Amino acid sequence: DMGGHDTYMHKEIAEQAEAVDRVLRGRIDDRFATVHLGGLNLEPGEARRVRRIKILGCGTSYHAGQIGAQLIEELARIPADAEPASEFRYRNPVVDPDTLYVAVSQSGETYDVLAAVQELKRKGARVLGVVNVVGSAIAREADGGTYVHAGPEVCVVSTKCFTNTVVAFALLALHLGRIRDLSVADGKRIIAGLRRLPSQIDEILKTEPEIQLLAQEYADAKSMLFIGRVRGYPVAREASLKLKEVSYIHAEAYPASELKHGPLALIDPGMPTVAIVPDDDLLEKNRAAMEEIKARSGRILAVAHQKQEKADHTIVVPKNEDELDPILMGIPLQLFAYHTALALGRDIDKPRNLAKSVTVE
Ligand code: F6R
Repeated sequence: DMGGHDTYMHKEIAEQAEAVDRVLRGRIDDRFATVHLGGLNLEPGEARRVRRIKILGCGTSYHAGQIGAQLIEELARIPADAEPASEFRYRNPVVDPDTLYVAVSQSGETYDVLAAVQELKRKGARVLGVVNVVGSAIAREADGGTYVHAGPEVCVVSTKCFTNTVVAFALLALHLGRIRDLSVADGKRIIAGLRRLPSQIDEILKTEPEIQLLAQEYADAKSMLFIGRVRGYPVAREASLKLKEVSYIHAEAYPASELKHGPLALIDPGMPTVAIVPDDDLLEKNRAAMEEIKARSGRILAVAHQKQEKADHTIVVPKNEDELDPILMGIPLQLFAYHTALALGRDIDKPRNLAKSVTVE
């Protein structure tokens, strides 16, 4: 049942405020400025002994894990990084007893992720799951974890599950942070930010008509570049994946800081750039990158917290706390990918060559 929408993708994009509300519900502890995650199965003493966190997933879940790793480093100050599970399991990784492993998967059935979890378990590692489908193979195999509570996702292209997974990581990061060194004040600040998300998501969804016009304007591009830095970079990567899988336009994400090391050579009027420009300590750096692109006659669509003079167009999104901004900045670009695919007449819910869950190698 698509509930009045033409595609599941559109329905699932539109459902994100309630989905985020669901992942927050019942978990916030205002008294101690923290969150409770029931199924984590990680005692405070154990959480304090974790020296590193390694996040494993594929595709969109890997990108959610990249934002998750940044949230964990920022809020809990535990070194963390994400890696495609499909790469990790083939490189004979060092499995270290002080590292906490986190497997991320919407379906909970992705073979590369499951195989990585099984190999880690065999070597005695502690593995948590951040999973959407309750009772799925990865959820059962993990030592504990948290459900993402996005509800069923039917469209092959993941949208609401990405957003909810990132929120679930924010909860995990806050939980770990408050066991370690995150102050009560910062815990309260992040909780207030999390509570603002659903209404801010609705605000973004209201700009859909404007995003549709922009998508129509850029739909003739043969290729698009997506740039961001630090918090904005995984947002750029996920937006680039969304565009290519649903519209079949080639898209590539780059850290804005790396432009001059190669990709600037690609810039011309036929190669537009989508720039993720949060209003944080890197704003001036991002503006400088846009200037470099303009100087080479590139078209720029910015996603930012205020209108960007250097860009041809800006999609303005509401500001949250710096750490939580990536959760919101990807949402207009889901709509952008959707409307680009619509303008090009693509099979939105079932893009060619793709399957919803990849249970083979
Ligand atoms: C992209 C997409 C895929 C999946 C990937 C992992 O929109 O849906 O990249 O994210 O196949 O799937 P899960 O999360 O089920 O493990």
